[in-house]
Amino acid sequence: MSTTTRENWTSKRNFILAAAGSAVGLGNIWKFPYIAGENGGAAFLIIYVICILMIGIPILNLEILLGRETQKNPVGAFKQLSTNPLWQYVGGLGVVASFTILSFYSVVGGWSIAYMLEAINGTFKGFENPQVAGEFFNLKNSNANWVLGFHTLFFLITVGIILSGVRKGLEKVSRYLMPLLLLILFFLVFQGLFLPESEKGLEFLFAPDWSKINAQTFLLALGHAFFTLSLGMGAMMTYGSYLSKKDDIVHASNIIAFLDTFIAILAGVAIFTVVFSSGYSPTAGPGLVFHVLPPLLAKLPLGYIMSIMFFLLLSIAAITSAISILEVSVAYLMDEFSFSRKRATSIMSIAVYLAAIPCALSFNVLSDVTLNIGAKPYTIFDIFDYLASNIYLPLGGFFIALFVGHAWGVDKAIKGLLMGDSNNSRFGNSIFKNATVVSVFGFLVKFISPLLIFLVFLYQFGLI
Ligand code: PFF
Repeated sequence: MSTTTRENWTSKRNFILAAAGSAVGLGNIWKFPYIAGENGGAAFLIIYVICILMIGIPILNLEILLGRETQKNPVGAFKQLSTNPLWQYVGGLGVVASFTILSFYSVVGGWSIAYMLEAINGTFKGFENPQVAGEFFNLKNSNANWVLGFHTLFFLITVGIILSGVRKGLEKVSRYLMPLLLLILFFLVFQGLFLPESEKGLEFLFAPDWSKINAQTFLLALGHAFFTLSLGMGAMMTYGSYLSKKDDIVHASNIIAFLDTFIAILAGVAIFTVVFSSGYSPTAGPGLVFHVLPPLLAKLPLGYIMSIMFFLLLSIAAITSAISILEVSVAYLMDEFSFSRKRATSIMSIAVYLAAIPCALSFNVLSDVTLNIGAKPYTIFDIFDYLASNIYLPLGGFFIALFVGHAWGVDKAIKGLLMGDSNNSRFGNSIFKNATVVSVFGFLVKFISPLLIFLVFLYQFGLI
């Protein structure tokens, strides 16, 4: 494949939709609401937005740029830009992360499809309260065939899209599904806002309680900023490698980050208005959308439709992200070993599918296999999630910032970012014609990002 021309996006708009499709995923709709719910709502939101602005957006620009400069997968990109072979391992870490994330991601993706079908069946109408829904969820998950079956279905859909290539697969799916996702979300938010006592949900999300903030909050917010923007493992680099030099990366990154944050907030509004208006607490953890929401949604005036729409939303979000995760390892095999897309996809899918099985079984057959991190027992599923969000992605981000800041050079990055025209003077790359913006960006990339990520690591391992 490397001898033929590389596929590319038909337009910058379609690149933005695909990249936003990668960013907007389970992180926004499944994870963000429960992490915010467990960590003080608005107080978490503010720290998370600061992480997005100071670390997320600069690294998003750099990842896309490194991909576009080299037109390569993450391993190939570092190989091309540096004479020191060690940097390739940062790209390699991305390939490992793509295995890890997809393993637990496709289990949750499978749940989303299964729940959409249950919603169509009208199952949730029979649930008295979230407790009953929780028991249903646990019962379903105790059946290994059920979890594995839906995980396989989700995985096959992902593989089918990847096999179709950049334009016919990745681009086409995001072009149709992302507008649909936004439409469904608006509908859910609209309904939520009209529920009695919905203002309590809004207050929870927008009125900060600073007493809830501690060092752990920063760790979670930073890890989540990476996860939600698909940073640190080369997904944005791989998508950037299909982008034309005529397009403005700065403008595209700003839109992607804005859409991602906006959609997480909308998902928070849609979920917290329903939860608070029914008098429940949002601190239910990962089970929030699967335990708490189904019975509450089913009781709403348009309950039947709302439940279907919610789980359709979750499935769409999961699929447009999962394809970007698998594409990283497929692009790696295509570029580095000159495999055809079909061959690369077959090999990687089988490998990732096998790696994911223990994750799917950690709710039943392997539920006793746990590891204590701190005082909490982590199942295999939890460990994969923890490794990806709290270690691999921030570590990848740390090295990308170090690479650009101290090896490749911020000046080269600025030159690359100035390439391409968006005709947008406020949010486009012309802001880099301003010397202050250039110095702030350089300072963030060279010092602030690596330092903050490093501190978070020290804290995580109990060293500070
Ligand atoms: N950004 C996705 C989400 O929020 O669900 C998850 C993700 C996709 C992480 C792609 C990393 C990645 F490379």
